[in-house]
Amino acid sequence: MRNPEKAARLTSAAVAPATPVSTLAEDVRAGLLSRPRWLPPKYFYDDCGSELFEAICETPEYYPSRTEAALLAAHGREIMEYARCDHMLELGSGSSRKTRHLLDACDALGQACSYWPFDVSAQMMLDAGAALVQDYPWLDVHALIGDYTGGLSNLPLPTTGRRLIVFLGGTLGNFEPGAARGMLEQIAALMRDDDLMLLGVDRVKDSVILEAAYDDAAGTTAAFNRNVLRVLNRELGGDFPVDSYRHRAVFDREHARIEMRLAARHAHRVTLAALDTAFDMAADEEIVTEFSHKFTPQSLDALLADAGLALDRHFEAPAGAYSLVLARRRA
Ligand code: SAH
Ligand code: TRP
Repeated sequence: MRNPEKAARLTSAAVAPATPVSTLAEDVRAGLLSRPRWLPPKYFYDDCGSELFEAICETPEYYPSRTEAALLAAHGREIMEYARCDHMLELGSGSSRKTRHLLDACDALGQACSYWPFDVSAQMMLDAGAALVQDYPWLDVHALIGDYTGGLSNLPLPTTGRRLIVFLGGTLGNFEPGAARGMLEQIAALMRDDDLMLLGVDRVKDSVILEAAYDDAAGTTAAFNRNVLRVLNRELGGDFPVDSYRHRAVFDREHARIEMRLAARHAHRVTLAALDTAFDMAADEEIVTEFSHKFTPQSLDALLADAGLALDRHFEAPAGAYSLVLARRRA
């Protein structure tokens, strides 16, 4: 039975980009027709990709998600007590699974805040929002549907009250360094003196552990990576032979990043009907599909400082496997 009270506590709004975002067609032209070939990461997350990402988080090899969850479970209360936020904005919230630790902390503290998840994957976010208003009777959820690469200045956030801006999952590491700084500057621009950002990033470590995290034995990450070719086939009338691509995850220590790639098992021609274009993939030729940058305490400090932010509190997983940080705007 429909509960009007519950339904009223979940609203959604589409967010128009403040700065133009490229279309899939433009990105594919720019990336796939250049060398080395590359694709922007946001196209992973259609409904199927979002489900596959959730499955990655359950694999034994993908430690970042459960490590971050453990940090949030251990320090959630301290974080929420410290932040005392009226509004919590979360970028790339996905299923909001880990965010529940922060909401549980609000529960325990008798503190209420409103929740503003912002994601391109509308279905995943709305399903999560419906479950949240069910489970937290005091919670208002305002789902924001859009692309955060178009900037944050158009978000319809309340102008009064304290803000906590949450960005978890190491997703900041999926940006190129210049874009990561730009994203943090956008976040800083939303913050006033009392506001905080809660950021989760993965740390540089042994390459065997890193590469396994992005190439699990059951092949879930491989399926997630290949799914981006299914998206292109569907959206652009493509004919990528999806199963003829091998998933690769390589740690590049110089750039401190995992590089996700798709390598053609054999030579073939790809046609993209909607772009009226075709190109040839040679055997073993690769498409770079995603970077996942890893940080050191020093590189994280530097990145925050470049964006006008300063580290306030640092919660580290055992052996420095993962970092959860609270940052403020620099005075
Ligand atoms: N925060 C969650 C999900 C991380 S996966 C966690 O830590 O488990 C990255 C999330 O960012 C996905 O939900 C994806 O849909 C979203 N995302 C990716 N690119 C985006 C973009 N350009 N704009 C908005 N959301 C994006
Ligand atoms: N933000 C996640 C990360 O960098 C995204 C991710 C996890 C991912 N596994 C992946 C992206 C595999 C592409 C392929 O850890």
